Amino acid sequence: MGDVKASAADRPRVVVARMLLEAGIAPLAERAEIQQGGLNVGRAELLELVAGANAVVADPTVAIDEKLLDAAGNALRVIANFAVGYDNVDLDACRRRGVAVTNTPDVLTDATAELALALTMAAARGLNAAERDLRAGGWAGLAPGAYLGTELSGRCFGIVGLGRIGARYGELIRPIAGRVLYCGPRPKPDAAAALGAEHVDLAALLAESDVVSLHAPAGSVSTGMIGATELERMRPGSLLINTSRGSLVDEMALASALAEGEIGAAGLDVFANEPKVPGELLAAPNCVLLPHIGSATTTAREAMARLVAENVLAALDGREPPNLVS
Ligand code: GLV
Repeated sequence: MGDVKASAADRPRVVVARMLLEAGIAPLAERAEIQQGGLNVGRAELLELVAGANAVVADPTVAIDEKLLDAAGNALRVIANFAVGYDNVDLDACRRRGVAVTNTPDVLTDATAELALALTMAAARGLNAAERDLRAGGWAGLAPGAYLGTELSGRCFGIVGLGRIGARYGELIRPIAGRVLYCGPRPKPDAAAALGAEHVDLAALLAESDVVSLHAPAGSVSTGMIGATELERMRPGSLLINTSRGSLVDEMALASALAEGEIGAAGLDVFANEPKVPGELLAAPNCVLLPHIGSATTTAREAMARLVAENVLAALDGREPPNLVS
């Protein structure tokens, strides 16, 4: 027989703010007591739940701020975010308390880049509207002038943020792209060379690209980076794709650019105040809207859950977590 298990009181306490897939729960449960808040956990309930936790598993919908860290108390060692982005976490507040923060990079790169590709294709060909029409019985047979979309072969693609996901998107579109441009805080010569991509500033990228895909992290630098001025710079008929964070785009300005026909179409997987989607975007023509499913493949989500568990267990053991952000 194996070791006698420590009693519940001796085992570390892991609070999953909302929920974690079994792929992450199973390894954690071997070592720790786990409590899950559930998908609909309220803020007050969560503040009570985290009291005395040694680890908290969060996701982009859970604000990890001073208040939550205070409620958790000084036994807290790690915030393990179930996401590659961590704009929901106040890193300074965690640092001040000696709380490690981890994320789940790499394992969701393919899934998210593939979704950006799917949104690009769907927006270019108006797939959502065409399908809606068919389901509603509005398809009367082939009509040469109906459902006309945009062909992407040979077009100029602009990638905003050539990180892991942006670079993977670049690889996926490369076989059909004419030119590939990218912008970001600094040139990325290796990734760019692999794609034959040119580094330009945002203004040039917007002016020259037929497809603009956003892959920059949320933060003070990127908030509102695509507003009315930037949308005006975009080419008539061009596409804006966002699988990063809603805060990058001024949603009202985008709705009006779509309504005025300033750009051709948009494909959005993320919104500024999720799960709220502004009525102006719901009503916008030529706009494909998805419920933040960039990493939602079984492969990616299970791997993310396993990474969360590895990060938590490392922090609880006093080892450096594999995906330490801060
Ligand atoms: C999802 O939004 C992520 O950041 O992984």
